[in-house]
Amino acid sequence: MVAGNWKMNGSLEMAGVLVRAVAQAEENNREILLCPPFPYLQTVRDLIGDSGLQLGAQNCAADASGAFTGEVSAAMLKDLGCSYVILGHSERRALYGETDEIVARKTRAALDAGLKVVLCVGETLEQRKSGVEEQVVAEQMKLVLDSLGTADWDELVVAYEPVWAIGTGETATPEQAQAMHAFIRNCMGETGSNVQILYGGSVKPDSAAGLFAQSDIDGGLIGGASLDAEQFLKICAA
Ligand code: PGA
Repeated sequence: MVAGNWKMNGSLEMAGVLVRAVAQAEENNREILLCPPFPYLQTVRDLIGDSGLQLGAQNCAADASGAFTGEVSAAMLKDLGCSYVILGHSERRALYGETDEIVARKTRAALDAGLKVVLCVGETLEQRKSGVEEQVVAEQMKLVLDSLGTADWDELVVAYEPVWAIGTGETATPEQAQAMHAFIRNCMGETGSNVQILYGGSVKPDSAAGLFAQSDIDGGLIGGASLDAEQFLKICAA
């Protein structure tokens, strides 16, 4: 899978140009997921049509409905045609105070609404320098994994995104990424052996092939390079 996380970028016009280009491209023969900002979901859904591209959101509420001003529920996203939601992104953890508990609650809410979840995990540079990256990632996954029922495993995708590689131009080496992906796969045990594990963090056309060639890297979660059809499609081709 290749997933494009537009973050808080783009416009209606940009969405039209980008989605049309990706939908019509010959590279659109894999699992490609587009995650635009909330206000563009419906437009992107219509542009996707029957091209096979999948639609996802970048966040959802932990609660099902009610007096939560400014929040968007998982059921609303499902209603709009989303099949996925990205949860636990490091920007949400760092800038909006999302704890592992909140991420676990959101994951439950999303799965209950029939959405699949791209669960993001990853360590900071400081944590990697102190050699605790595996501990950090295991901790970030624990509450979510503990709460999964047997049927939920098919609905989960994990994205390993080292915080030091996000938007910095600095990518983890294929070996660093592979080592963490193997660790993540191991954390999920036998039940999680088929879960897709994506790498994210400054993936660009020239770094994608090396990363995706690793045995435990099943695709990518792409930020900056997903805003440009040419770059994004080159990554899909890789
Ligand atoms: P980036 O973002 O590709 O711009 O580093 C990846 C992400 O945060 O999902």
